[in-house]
Amino acid sequence: MAKATATANANIALVKYWGKRDDALILPQNSSISMSCDGLSTTTTAEFSEKYRSDTIVINDEELKKDEKNILGHIERIRKLAGIQEKAKVVSESNFPVAAGLASSASGLAALTVAAAEAAGLSLHEKELGILARQGSGSASRSICEGFVEWHKGVMPDGSDSFAESIVRKNYWPEFRMIATIVSTEKKKTGSRAGMKQTVETCPFYGGWLRTVEDDLNIIRKGIRSRDFALVGSTAEANCLKMHALMMTTKPAILYWIPETVEVMHAVMAMREQGIEAYFTIDGGPQVKVMCLQKDEREITKRLLRLKGVQKTILCKPGDGAKLVNKHLF
Ligand code: DP6
Repeated sequence: MAKATATANANIALVKYWGKRDDALILPQNSSISMSCDGLSTTTTAEFSEKYRSDTIVINDEELKKDEKNILGHIERIRKLAGIQEKAKVVSESNFPVAAGLASSASGLAALTVAAAEAAGLSLHEKELGILARQGSGSASRSICEGFVEWHKGVMPDGSDSFAESIVRKNYWPEFRMIATIVSTEKKKTGSRAGMKQTVETCPFYGGWLRTVEDDLNIIRKGIRSRDFALVGSTAEANCLKMHALMMTTKPAILYWIPETVEVMHAVMAMREQGIEAYFTIDGGPQVKVMCLQKDEREITKRLLRLKGVQKTILCKPGDGAKLVNKHLF
């Protein structure tokens, strides 16, 4: 069987996915909307062959430990779907720090899905690839698609209607920017998977999240279609704060923010007071992503880099969906 290589971008959610209705199939409680980020990408090569005695996975030059069940489980899922037995070799490289809250699981699982499905001889369309990627990591379903993307939560118990699709392609709003700030490269303590499970089980405000998230989705969808930056930015920032309020009021509390996170949040709010249009969003980690328009990207980056806590910034534009490429990593 031939080897195959795919690249996928990370995506940053404007309306967050937080909470599952089915842990095994990874079905979400609510729909979510994100942007494909062209500066944060993962490339993965996969090959199934009789020459391999066991599955080997190398991520950023490090061999994966056998207890990393998620990725191994995803390879097994693809093997079963294709009806093959051969073991796999997978080599993957990301151009940004893994597991620090920059959506590495999304780009990683999306690239793995596209590369391994092709290498296993499956020929799947975007919707099917998204459904498959979703079972590896929920947010990975969104990384299959281009531009601004909605992952429909679906209602079917088998997950057949829980998939992602583009709202608009990347060229629809090419001026939109997401500046990822790196304030820490340490591995986070609580993963999103455990964090959202604990939230659904113990947070007294989770019902309020579910009651208001449809409004957020409608506003952001409309804001994207009409390219209304203030509407999208302000709604995305509020949705992020609402998600973190859930995390903080979960038992035990989950606080992904470190002092440097809060420093960037205040800096963004201060820029707004000075008339610079910028909004922030934060996921399951300390990094802050700053949304702005192209016309302000230089000034905002300069101000962010002046902050004590900001080690680095990565500029992202609306990007592609996951795709096959010709250059293999082994
Ligand atoms: C905070 O997709 O990593 O980034 O489905 O359990 O693998 P699993 O979780 P994951 O969660 C992402 C959570 C988030 C919000 C978002 O991206 O929508």
